[in-house]
Amino acid sequence: MTISVIAIDGPSASGKGTVAARVAQALGFHYLDSGAIYRVTAYAAQQRGVALDDEVGLAQLAVGLDLRFDGVEVWLDGRAVGDAIRTEEAGRAASRIAALPALRAALLQLQRGFRKAPGLVTDGRDMGSVVFSDADLKVFLTASAEVRADRRYKQLIEKGFDANLSALLQDLQERDARDAARAVAPLQQTADAQLLETSNMGIDDAVNWVLVAYTKASGMA
Ligand code: CDP
Repeated sequence: MTISVIAIDGPSASGKGTVAARVAQALGFHYLDSGAIYRVTAYAAQQRGVALDDEVGLAQLAVGLDLRFDGVEVWLDGRAVGDAIRTEEAGRAASRIAALPALRAALLQLQRGFRKAPGLVTDGRDMGSVVFSDADLKVFLTASAEVRADRRYKQLIEKGFDANLSALLQDLQERDARDAARAVAPLQQTADAQLLETSNMGIDDAVNWVLVAYTKASGMA
């Protein structure tokens, strides 16, 4: 029997991570934040002096990563790096290395290893299109750029980081353009993914929407 996967993809700061984690909690499934893997890889590269355009070096680094997730915390080589990888700078670095095909290929197995019983909810850019292309439910979760910039702003302020709304808006538009334009695993809504537009929708409603869609998709309705 195959293990259920719910794949939630979408642009930066759409709220897909929060929704995915809450859906996982509601179903008792595991949760994978695939963006954190790209962020940790970029962070590890910077720590170890591997250039962000050194495709072979980054792919080698990625297969040897000593990475562990524990709730929202991420551990690299036994050190908590959750805060360090969630800065906008780390997001930019992640998006740069994410365009490199050899690195993406090196991270495939690592990501697929998170598929464990009773099921997995995961979020990213290519969870439904590439990594878990046989997912039971694929959702493309988005919101307008202005709403997303506002969400990211509040998230950063809550964590005690400095933030500037117009700089954030520009930053996420640039990052989305790069993620959508790249040749491998671009950010896109695939034909088999259901669109969830959340510009005027709160977290609770978005979580319920995914749960209802999953019930229908898995034939439990
Ligand atoms: O939190 P936010 O949505 O801004 O970013 P993230 O999901 O943590 O991902 C950071 C970067 O990693 C993105 O801009 C993508 O370039 C890249 N990424 C990717 O290419 N594929 C994934 N499955 C997840 C993230």
